[in-house]
Amino acid sequence: MKEIKTIGVLTSGGDAPGMNAAVRAVVRTGISKGFKVVGINHGYNGLINGDIYEMNLRSVSEIIHRGGTVLYTARCMEFKTKEGQQKAADRCKEYGIDALVVIGGDGSFRGARDLAALGIPCIGIPGTIDNDIACSEYTIGYDTAMNTAVEMIDKLRDTTQSHDRCSVVEVMGRNAGYIALNTGIAVGALAILIPERPYDLERDIISRMNFTQKSGKHHFIIIVAEGVGHAQDIANEIQVRTGVDSRATVLGHVQRGGSPSLRDRVTASTMGFQAVSLLEKGIYNRVVAVSADKIVDYDIDVALSMHKTIDTNLLDVAATISI
Ligand code: ADP
Ligand code: F6P
Repeated sequence: MKEIKTIGVLTSGGDAPGMNAAVRAVVRTGISKGFKVVGINHGYNGLINGDIYEMNLRSVSEIIHRGGTVLYTARCMEFKTKEGQQKAADRCKEYGIDALVVIGGDGSFRGARDLAALGIPCIGIPGTIDNDIACSEYTIGYDTAMNTAVEMIDKLRDTTQSHDRCSVVEVMGRNAGYIALNTGIAVGALAILIPERPYDLERDIISRMNFTQKSGKHHFIIIVAEGVGHAQDIANEIQVRTGVDSRATVLGHVQRGGSPSLRDRVTASTMGFQAVSLLEKGIYNRVVAVSADKIVDYDIDVALSMHKTIDTNLLDVAATISI
């Protein structure tokens, strides 16, 4: 078993509210357990370029409530190459980094697995607003992003209702409909389109609009995950087919910002603690996850081979009560 004295921590891929709380937990748990902790800026880019500094208890003061990531984040193309990964592993040795905690999505964990194969012990912590990490029922940032989306759509509802319009709202989720599905239920959307289920405009939107118009409904909210298509195209088509004045709203990156919710802060804090506790026990190349509301961990290869399915029953819930 390799003796671990120094732990490196980085954030990678799309940022997510709560990443700072996870960094804070890694730094403070690490120091209290007697490790030296270094922060690596700009994800794998910083590892390759040596953008690395020692962190102390006060380096992570005043960040638990802040969105974004104080370590910055990046998508690093060079790290996807064998040469880039070797440079990163060499840099770990040069800086005396004995183990690495990677906070990010499954792309970042694939990178961590490659580093592990080069002899750098790694632990992954799931951080992405999309909740699309298969091994974990919950990812850091997801709750905050949904609450931000709900707040925005509640505001949109006021003007949609006042003008008897249809608002088609595009939320984030390139490959996953978690944000769209839950947000859609929370705002009482008439229809929710997600990448996991093919849709039919006539069946899923137009006929439902016609049906609800008969009972006196005059305004409509449709939620579309970005992976499904462009909100503007769908709004145009709805207007042509129904005559209802329609507008598209793309919530965009605002969903990735803001102060993390209680759930994200607590999950991030416990995951950061767990990551360091595993390293303390000499357990590594694992991904920390949530299963049945408990913090668990999986071998990184197993984690990357897992699949999770979205609860499409929720679509039936939405379809039944949004009429
Ligand atoms: P996320 O971690 O949120 O899924 P990305 O897929 O953009 O985000 O991955 C973040 C970074 O992780 C990439 O920029 C790259 O440096 C690294 N990465 C992604 N996929 C791989 C891979 N297959 N092998 C090695 N590194 C990867
Ligand atoms: O963080 C995940 C995510 O928000 C996806 O839903 C989205 O497609 C992607 O990031 C966009 O990120 P960027 O604009 O930073 O490439």
